[in-house]
Amino acid sequence: MEDIYIMGIETSCDETSVSIVKNGREVLSNVINSQIKIHEQYGGVVPEIASRCHTEVINQIMKQALMEAKITLENVSAIAVTYGPGLVGALLVGVSFAKGLSFATKKPLVPVNHIMGHISANYITHKDLKPPFLSLIISGGHTYLVDVQDYDKFEILGKTRDDAIGEAFDKVARVVGLGYPGGPKVDKLAKEGESNIDLPIAQMDNLDFSFSGIKTAIINLNHKNPELNKADLCASFEKTATEMLVTNVRKAIKDTKKTELVLAGGVSANSYIRKEFDKLAEEEKIEVLYPELSLCTDNAAMIASAGYYEFIKGKRADLRLNAIPNLKL
Ligand code: KG4
Ligand code: ZN
Repeated sequence: MEDIYIMGIETSCDETSVSIVKNGREVLSNVINSQIKIHEQYGGVVPEIASRCHTEVINQIMKQALMEAKITLENVSAIAVTYGPGLVGALLVGVSFAKGLSFATKKPLVPVNHIMGHISANYITHKDLKPPFLSLIISGGHTYLVDVQDYDKFEILGKTRDDAIGEAFDKVARVVGLGYPGGPKVDKLAKEGESNIDLPIAQMDNLDFSFSGIKTAIINLNHKNPELNKADLCASFEKTATEMLVTNVRKAIKDTKKTELVLAGGVSANSYIRKEFDKLAEEEKIEVLYPELSLCTDNAAMIASAGYYEFIKGKRADLRLNAIPNLKL
């Protein structure tokens, strides 16, 4: 079979990224321009600034991705772009750029769901991984427990009813004065603390999640007791939030009898979460997989991988493709 080279384009939030992936699994280049330094001073992503930054750099990032992959636009089989979910202005930069490129080069345009992209990061890290499996997607914007039945077929078993877990991490970081983006900073500080503070656990009658209660509890605790040890707060938050994840996943394993669990999304980089899921793997005698750290947070290689599986199934978009900020899985 002829090799397939997918160009992935990702601009859904604050990373401008273009990647070339061969046959869905082999990353030839994955150029990421992070805007963290710019948004840091505002304590979070400013959507208008994110869109402008994407516009300024995307063409150069695309050229660099081709150069690093040592191929030209002619060798590209198709252009895969994130069209949702995400910030509408940010998404539109990638979508418009991809449409222009597709029109100019007459290459097929493949629309990709960002959440599906996160799952697909695992196809790059684990070359033999194939559906079906269970997946827990934990990121800044999403918390989903999913039965992945095929590359493009999903059943949502549970989702957050309010905040995404990454939002809670970022909020906790802000409250204890760690700055943005908070997840990695909470991860680091928690290692120096004890999980000795009781926090509320949301009890659900299904596999849904809720992180607003624990987030509010941390805000109130820190406000009323400013002397509380910040490392202990971070460790206690991580322990309770992870317990909520593990409880539902354990139920899902029992319900579905699946033996493979795949984590995805920025928060799956968290070292405590990885440790606890490794424990779960041992206890339930299942296999738990994680994307390599560089593929946990937003990047275009995961979009190109997802785009490959959509492409070979014949999925295409035309020039009417629009950004869908609240696109569902
Ligand atoms: O997947 P991602 O890049 O963006 C979305 O699609 O939302 O995830 C970003 C989120 C942020 O909330 C960030 O704080 C969190 O992932 N994150 C972490 C860690 N690294 C990134 N959270 C906890 N521990 C980490 N090590
Ligand atoms: Zn993401």
